[in-house]
Amino acid sequence: MPPTLPEPAAMSRALMLLQAGQLVGLPTETVYGLAADGLNPFALRQIFAAKGRPVDHPLILHLGDAAWLPRYAEPDPRAEALAAALWPGPLTIVLRRKPGVPDEVTGGRETVALRVPAHPVAQALLWAFGRPLAAPSANRFGRVSPTTAEHVREELPGVFVLDGGPAVVGVESSIVDLSGPVPALLRPGGVSAEAIAAMVGPLGASQTVAPGTLPGHYAPRTALRLSHTPDAEAEAARAQGLTVAILRAGEPQDHARRLYAELRRLDALGVDLLLAEPSADAALGVAINDRLSRAAYGAKEPR
Ligand code: TXA
Ligand code: MG
Repeated sequence: MPPTLPEPAAMSRALMLLQAGQLVGLPTETVYGLAADGLNPFALRQIFAAKGRPVDHPLILHLGDAAWLPRYAEPDPRAEALAAALWPGPLTIVLRRKPGVPDEVTGGRETVALRVPAHPVAQALLWAFGRPLAAPSANRFGRVSPTTAEHVREELPGVFVLDGGPAVVGVESSIVDLSGPVPALLRPGGVSAEAIAAMVGPLGASQTVAPGTLPGHYAPRTALRLSHTPDAEAEAARAQGLTVAILRAGEPQDHARRLYAELRRLDALGVDLLLAEPSADAALGVAINDRLSRAAYGAKEPR
């Protein structure tokens, strides 16, 4: 399905808001982002305030294309290879920063995370704006990421959202750290570890975790448990008088695409327990299971 394109008036309004240091809900191919001028400290601070996000959690700078990279980060041949093969797309690269990148973006680190999003609306806005956009996922801190414009409006009422249709990947970008000698995967995502390793060599254990990828993330309010045998577990739980909903695995791309929307929908049912079937897929399934485990982490027991 081709992505929905917003009205030209909506694009102009988004551009005006960004130029004024305000926030815009931005469709990307992974999830919706909460975008602000990536070089304007005032604008960047609005992101943290709106999300309730700790200020030392660094942000991803979104670029129009790979030619923008040397303005903000030290070029690296491994990054060039990755960018040539996988940008635009669901891959974020962490590199040593150039001076001039605000501390609000890097959380005061010597590194910066960069990504070229593939969504045509994100592309159009980046090129019209001509500057990088900092954009975390457009959810309140710790909650399920939004994959539709409507989700963003529910999470962050009052933020102007460009509607680009449902996100086609459905889970966030993979993050690879190339700031040290050994590349490391900081977050599994839309690009498989194998695809990254094929370009840059074996991935080492991450020296740093991506700050903010906490175990208890992406959390619905309902108790959530991963289950390889959801039907049997549901039956057992129902026998104890609990109400149960099941989020089933399936074809991996479809599973990733509907993951967050279904978590939201099932969470709103008000049942006692959600059972989520993990993905058996070796590529996208790693990202899906990562998000499900975080959503289940520390989940309360069903009422
Ligand atoms: O798909 C995505 O990446 C989405 C869309 C909107 O582009 N964005 C996204 O942003 O997921 P956010 O803020 O929810 O997650 C960004 C992750 C955080 O875990 C953060 O710690 C990590 O990237 N990160 C950012 N800068 C970093 C840096 N310099 N070093 C290590 N990790 C970094
Ligand atoms: Mg996020």
